[in-house]
Amino acid sequence: MSQRRRIPRLFAPLLLVAAAGATGVAAVPAAAEQAVRARPLGQVIPAPASVSEGGPSYALTGRTRIRVDEDSREARRIGAYLADILRPSTGFELPVTARDAKDGIRLRLGSGDTSLGDEGYRLESGRHGVTITARKAAGLFHGVQTLRQLLPASVEKDTRQPGPWTVAGGTIEDAPRYGYRGAMLDVSRHFFSVDKVKTYIDQMALYKVNKLHLHLSDDQGWRIAIDSWPRLTTYGGSTQVGGGPGGYYTKADYREILRYAASRHLEVVPEIDLPGHTNAALASYAELNCDGVAPPLYTGTKVGFSSLCVPKDITYEFVDDVVREIAEMTPGKYIHLGGDEAHSTPHKDYVAFMDRAQAIVGEYGKTVMGWHQLTGGNPVEGAVAQYWGLDKTSATEKAQVADAAKNGTKLVLSPADRAYLDMKYDKSTPLGLAWAGYVEVQRSYDWDPGTYLPGAPAESVLGVEAPMWSETVWTNDQVEYMAFPRLPGIAELGWSPAATHDWDTYKVRLAAQGPRMSALGIDYYRSAQVPWPAE
Ligand code: ACM
Repeated sequence: MSQRRRIPRLFAPLLLVAAAGATGVAAVPAAAEQAVRARPLGQVIPAPASVSEGGPSYALTGRTRIRVDEDSREARRIGAYLADILRPSTGFELPVTARDAKDGIRLRLGSGDTSLGDEGYRLESGRHGVTITARKAAGLFHGVQTLRQLLPASVEKDTRQPGPWTVAGGTIEDAPRYGYRGAMLDVSRHFFSVDKVKTYIDQMALYKVNKLHLHLSDDQGWRIAIDSWPRLTTYGGSTQVGGGPGGYYTKADYREILRYAASRHLEVVPEIDLPGHTNAALASYAELNCDGVAPPLYTGTKVGFSSLCVPKDITYEFVDDVVREIAEMTPGKYIHLGGDEAHSTPHKDYVAFMDRAQAIVGEYGKTVMGWHQLTGGNPVEGAVAQYWGLDKTSATEKAQVADAAKNGTKLVLSPADRAYLDMKYDKSTPLGLAWAGYVEVQRSYDWDPGTYLPGAPAESVLGVEAPMWSETVWTNDQVEYMAFPRLPGIAELGWSPAATHDWDTYKVRLAAQGPRMSALGIDYYRSAQVPWPAE
């Protein structure tokens, strides 16, 4: 879609206010005052594909209804979600109704406009209301996120606020650049309860993130119940980094995460990290070890010391059971097999293991995902490699990944020195790690997924993901401090056309998110690179 940015009509009322201020006359017409307060349509993060500003604004009132089609349960559900966000702060009733009316918020599903794709939407705002049109529910949901950001930040608060609740006039036509826009949470190094995960899901949804990658197992803890191997969780999930109590998801818990993620139009990507990063499993079942001896549980932060026993048959019975039970529960298409840092697995064994593990994923009808070391073996057709290298990663390693991409392997880009949310911003950051260097907000935003990996065809890139490893974080406040404001930047790289990429304008749009994040209770890092307004 093209970039169409007209000079906003807000200019005229702004002059009016300036004049009133200069003469000490406070007589600004109410409509003009409201227009002044309306946020420009183009201020949204991620930047929309196309913005055309102008025309009269719309102000929500106590009479505003959220109108949905009679026969659309999905539109009704999204309408109810929107109403839940808007009611506490506005104090308006905002009934969700199929009754026709001449103004209000209109959520329309089933547009035949194929340019909108599965996730795109059109938002039209004018005197009589705001209409969001989409082909699919995900598009309508993303359009609702845009509408939230067009309203004042205080709309996000959960107590009554003064308003006014004005949306500037104009049209947004929007659809994502990439279909994969992910965030990962490592629930192994520290366990995160279902409620904590839900909180993060809600925060991701605001920025149109559509994949939640859960790193469900590692040396320090196994976090997902597998009925056929119960000690994985009862023993292998009983601790965490630093020796705390750990925890795990029952199948009911996991299904609740899946349900909640689906309600926010996120697909869950479950990861079982194999054949390394497996101490929790090896500690739980002696027979998985080549020497038949279970190691102790591990609560440190070293990597690369554990490996499943590649020659043993029971290893593949184990992988089969785990993949089957997870695949049975998971509606999404991917199972992530990890495959990173298998430093204790000889290369020949690694390749043999990954061949068999990938085949098992295929047997259960899922698509293989793995960290990019998978490309050192034989990625199966359709496999997705998640690249987590650095600028300084060797040309040989980058070429290995690019060559796999030329041969059909798809890529999700998570360069650690850009997209890892657990990297410190600078040397004073109290949380996080620094092995990939410091990653300030600009560095995190300033790269292009389409051209990032030399030699990888642009069409091999499915999108981007921002991983949050949890060696040093275990509360939502800590996650928020590390994820915000970098996650909105990665989300924008995944959603917005490359032509919108510009740090100088992005940082101004990001600054405008400050009061919104505050209103949502998000404990974000006030980077000195961003001109935050005073709060
Ligand atoms: C990784 O950071 N080991 C994927």
